[in-house]
Amino acid sequence: MARKKIIAGNWKMNKTPSEAVALINELKPLVANDDVDVVFCVPAIDIIPAMEAAEGSNICIGAENMYFEESGAYTGEISPAMLTDVGVKYVVLGHSERREYFAETSETVNKKMLKAYEHGITPIMCCGETLEQREQGVTMDFIRQQVKVGFLGITADQAKTAVIAYEPIWAIGTGKVATTEQAQEVCAGIRACIAEIYDDATAEAIRIQYGGSVSAGSAPELFAQADIDGGLVGGAALKPDFGKIVNYK
Ligand code: 13P
Repeated sequence: MARKKIIAGNWKMNKTPSEAVALINELKPLVANDDVDVVFCVPAIDIIPAMEAAEGSNICIGAENMYFEESGAYTGEISPAMLTDVGVKYVVLGHSERREYFAETSETVNKKMLKAYEHGITPIMCCGETLEQREQGVTMDFIRQQVKVGFLGITADQAKTAVIAYEPIWAIGTGKVATTEQAQEVCAGIRACIAEIYDDATAEAIRIQYGGSVSAGSAPELFAQADIDGGLVGGAALKPDFGKIVNYK
């Protein structure tokens, strides 16, 4: 069975709640496309107004992060139940910015992955190498490690529904998109890693996105690759261009 493409925007720390509503109203008609899953991952405080603005459209609202405990003395954190209570179905986990600025590790990402599944939230788990790692030729070793640790304790049935976003750090926010060959090669490598951990059926089912300076110009070729099942889009997800990315065909 062909995998349905999933094209998600990661808004990062952009847009106030009122700006979020305005942007969704602007993008709603532009991102209409039932052939792909369209997800807007927005700042926590924007989730509820974004849900209301997106109602009746094909836009699904996701979160950008979540904590791995149920509740308690974790000042500033958002629990999985808080997300599901308002209808969140997707959460970005382990984005490189969270790993870099907020000390996330593959171990904490794994705890969040387990917790997300416990609550029926689909993780969009990010992985990706630095420029230095690419130049040293250890890209795939590093990413395999991120994937293997991230998926510890996750069952094959759960993994089948997961989304992995391959985001080379050197391509994020730099305007420097990976070549189609580089992106396809790593996404195929991630799929092979999933086949090793689980089996071929799981590897065939899991969806793998490319992220890093995706634009309306680069999306068609990237998304045509055999192992690239869509994109995780930063800057271009905040502009009308996102409509062109979603309707890339
Ligand atoms: P840009 O598309 O702005 O490079 O960001 C990519 C990204 O980090 C999405 O999660």
